[in-house]
Amino acid sequence: MKIFLDTADVDEIAVVARWGILDGVTTNPTLFSKVGGAYDDVLRKICDLTPGPVSAEVVAAEPDGMVNEGRHFAAIAPNIVVKIPMSEPGLEAMARLKAEGIPTNCTLIFSANQGLLAAKAGASLLSPFVGRLDDINEDGMTVVRELVAIVETHGLETEVLAASIRSPRHMTLAALAGAHVATVPLAVLRKMIEHPLTEAGIASFRRDWDSVQTPVGTKRD
Ligand code: E4P
Repeated sequence: MKIFLDTADVDEIAVVARWGILDGVTTNPTLFSKVGGAYDDVLRKICDLTPGPVSAEVVAAEPDGMVNEGRHFAAIAPNIVVKIPMSEPGLEAMARLKAEGIPTNCTLIFSANQGLLAAKAGASLLSPFVGRLDDINEDGMTVVRELVAIVETHGLETEVLAASIRSPRHMTLAALAGAHVATVPLAVLRKMIEHPLTEAGIASFRRDWDSVQTPVGTKRD
């Protein structure tokens, strides 16, 4: 499963790039509003740091506006993927961008049927929102599982990107469900690294090592 970082914060992206696990980045207007500046400049910096796809989200409501924003983003860097919300205008815009060879990520997917339609329209990534479904007492991971099964059963040329990931458990379940990608905030990645037994083990190995070291200037038999 590929791991994308869900952020528009360049410093966070640089940290995860150094860990050697960064496959891509997803941004959205809310994440961008937290860092400020000009969206184009932020995207340019993110694309420089990121080897894989970087999602840039349109805000237009009509197909022409979505396509124009998409073309503009695609000209910023070769690894841009245009993020388009699930909707009638969104389907049209995804189909038109696909015809121009510009890859798209269909966002705000909350059902397998929405994902199926986005795949048919030519989206290269399908983003079911797990956490937001869990928030309204539904099982968000079911949509991921169903979409993965549909994509694989019918050999659709698209990938399922588990989005709105809120916990390390979501990551494990997304991987088990066969999600091709999961996009995750840095805080969740850090929780995935941590384990109290790992920390205790590192501390005790260090203690035991130190206990047999010969102080400088003394001779051991
Ligand atoms: C990523 O593509 C999505 O925009 C993001 O994961 C949404 O996450 P949220 O539901 O925590 O805002």
